[in-house]
Amino acid sequence: MTIQPVKALRGIFRPPSDKSLTHRAYMFGAAATGESLVRMPLTGEDCEATLRCLAQMGLRFERPSSTEIKLIPAPEWTQPDGSLDCGNSGTTMRLMSGFVASRHLNVTLIGDASLSKRPMKRIAEPLRLMGATVEGDTPPLRIKGSTRLKGIDFQSPVASGQIKGCTLIAGLRADGETWVTEPSLSRDHTERMLTALGVEVRRGVVTESLGIESFDEDVNFNSTADLEEEFNVVGWRAGVVGGSKINPFEFTVPADISSAAFFMVAAAILPTSRLEIKDLSVNPSRTGILDIFLQAGIPCIPDEEREELGEPVADMVVAAPFEKRRAFEISGSLVPRLIDEIPVLAVLATQCEGETIIRDARELRVKESDRIELVAKGLRDMGAEVDTFEDGMAVKGPVKLKGALIEANHDHRLAMAFAVAGLVAEGDTVIEGAESIATSFPGFEGELRRLSSID
Ligand code: S3P
Repeated sequence: MTIQPVKALRGIFRPPSDKSLTHRAYMFGAAATGESLVRMPLTGEDCEATLRCLAQMGLRFERPSSTEIKLIPAPEWTQPDGSLDCGNSGTTMRLMSGFVASRHLNVTLIGDASLSKRPMKRIAEPLRLMGATVEGDTPPLRIKGSTRLKGIDFQSPVASGQIKGCTLIAGLRADGETWVTEPSLSRDHTERMLTALGVEVRRGVVTESLGIESFDEDVNFNSTADLEEEFNVVGWRAGVVGGSKINPFEFTVPADISSAAFFMVAAAILPTSRLEIKDLSVNPSRTGILDIFLQAGIPCIPDEEREELGEPVADMVVAAPFEKRRAFEISGSLVPRLIDEIPVLAVLATQCEGETIIRDARELRVKESDRIELVAKGLRDMGAEVDTFEDGMAVKGPVKLKGALIEANHDHRLAMAFAVAGLVAEGDTVIEGAESIATSFPGFEGELRRLSSID
């Protein structure tokens, strides 16, 4: 992919549908007690991998129109022929493991070269504690499931929507209650969607002074920062009771803020830009980028809030600021709320006044690639001043970037982040490995060209 500089991004933009929500919609549909309809699912390769794996275990699906998928679950999941190929998708492998481990199935999950290097011990551990047999701390993962798992109270060392999701999913069919405690709140799609589908999901916190506290049902998880401060929270808890049934559903998948982020940052750094973004998922466990825009002084106003299966959705206008953009800081509980956006936020940092500091983000080293080293290398090649730490980086700005040859290492988010950098760089930016963009954002380049203004 070759990117040339443009003057602004302008227009109306409906980003691709949310990847995390599409994966869960397919999986919950396959485990539901009747037929479900998913409108506007993400058609990216990661979610297609989920659908294929589910089909190997008995899910039938139909496409009543080009934007709808009807899911027809099998009464019992069946033993697949051959292994389940999760492609590049960590979410497929980790969440699917929770379903497989709690059924009478003997399954091998495999992935591409990048996924084959990613850590799976983090989900193997809770599944083993529950009584499943799991071999392989990196893929291939061999799971011998059991219908007699026992509920556990699992302390996850990292805040991860995938570890939490996998464990709670297995807990749906375990004996007794299954709880997960995590150090910061990771994306809570599993909790919200399952609640909307009739499962009793309990939530709570661990506080320094009071220990474990369970929340009443009316606690609003849309303002978790307030909760965190009020209770001095050191752990976030979610739990399910074994034997819970998942109701069938109709769900229109909202747009993915992690995909929108590339266009939001592009609009923020190209003067005179103005983008109207439609149907955006604004789940507060995903909206860390809005906090950063506030810190950096970039206008960004969510409007028309509504809800889809417990998930908040809004429209939003993002415009380039008149003032200089300010450097920002990412650390602590903000990290899981924007973990996938850090590569493109590092690009934003190169266009901000001052030194941006990113800390507590060592998880970036075990994503689709080592995103700390590769973001730093690419940005340095484009003329930026970047230092790396074990858990983050420091970026000095503002700097006039120059086009370069960038190796995205088949990592979709790196390829898109460097495409955004290329929009403000001098000369051509050539991105190798850009075909990976199809995993989460088919049509990225076309949308970028459609919204770009060169005068
Ligand atoms: C995801 C959780 C995050 C995120 C990934 C999707 C999910 O990973 O990076 O893109 O859908 O639960 P971790 O759970 O490893 O933080």
